[in-house]
Amino acid sequence: MTDSLSTAHSATDRYLVFGNPISHSKSPWIHGLFAAETGEKLDYDKQCIEIGDFERQARQFFNSGGKGLNVTVPFKQEAYRFADKLTPGARRAGAVNTLALQPDGTVLGDNTDGVGLIRDLVENLGWPIQHKRVLVLGAGGAVRGVLEPLLAQGPSMLVVANRSIDRVIQLTRAVADQGPVEGCGYDGLPGRQFDLVINGTSASMSGQVPPLPDDLLAANARCYDLFYAAEPTVFMLWAEAHGAVAVADGLGMLVEQAAEAFSLWRGKRPDSLAVIDALRKATR
Ligand SMILES: NC(=O)c1ccc[n+]([C@@H]2O[C@H](COP(=O)([O-])OP(=O)(O)OC[C@H]3O[C@@H](n4cnc5c(N)ncnc54)[C@H](OP(=O)(O)O)[C@@H]3O)[C@@H](O)[C@H]2O)c1
Repeated sequence: MTDSLSTAHSATDRYLVFGNPISHSKSPWIHGLFAAETGEKLDYDKQCIEIGDFERQARQFFNSGGKGLNVTVPFKQEAYRFADKLTPGARRAGAVNTLALQPDGTVLGDNTDGVGLIRDLVENLGWPIQHKRVLVLGAGGAVRGVLEPLLAQGPSMLVVANRSIDRVIQLTRAVADQGPVEGCGYDGLPGRQFDLVINGTSASMSGQVPPLPDDLLAANARCYDLFYAAEPTVFMLWAEAHGAVAVADGLGMLVEQAAEAFSLWRGKRPDSLAVIDALRKATR
């Protein structure tokens, strides 16, 4: 964010995360640590929004002096429609997870999920993507935001597999001009192998693993689950049992996408590694 806006911050600029459900959200805790570490003064809280009431609540928040919103399930597409302006990544994803009041009073919509995932994969974990065969499972709201940033890393091939074929075809068509990408059902996976498999389905939330062939993982394959929990997720356990050399959950992505939102709002980048470490300890 610009310096002129930084100087315009009041003593207690207000931020919220909107979602439904929202009680589980770690975002207030994460942003509280970011604020303490950077010396920024702000209030960040969570609010459960009734389905159908997003626009009214968001309008009311900004009209009453609120500076920025995070938006989670199921409102990311409504946030996309709410924004006056969009970053290129948010436009292509068709989904917004961060809204930021601009100096001219308009509201900018961004999608920080993709940047958060890439930063965790490439910088924190040191997992290469360039020239790798990458498989993404799922075609929901989270996957929408990560396909273009993944293609920007130069994989040799990006395959996206989902139960609902229509959904995955629509999603992969939207980014087909950005690199080698292909959408398919799970029946399109047998006989193929991948170096990096990213689980972007919500299956882990209910203790399920999508129907994957036993020989899906290439030698030295790495597997990442967007979901995170105190214990390794069922997908991580599946990956280890099928020969993955490294596995990780989405806790790092959660903190990195929050750090990107914080930077957009405050013009300062917090030390995300320290917060990942603190959140991991607090989650155990
Ligand atoms: N770490 C982070 O920062 C972060 C950020 C965002 C999301 N997430 C996580 O990412 C996951 C997806 O979130 P989302 O917002 O994209 O959810 P969503 O929009 O509801 O999409 C859910 C996706 O999972 C698929 N799916 C659900 N159950 C399945 C099963 N049993 N087998 C195979 N596929 C299944 C759905 O397939 P169909 O289309 O066929 O129904 C759909 O593609 C969640 O676990 C969420 O916690 C993490």
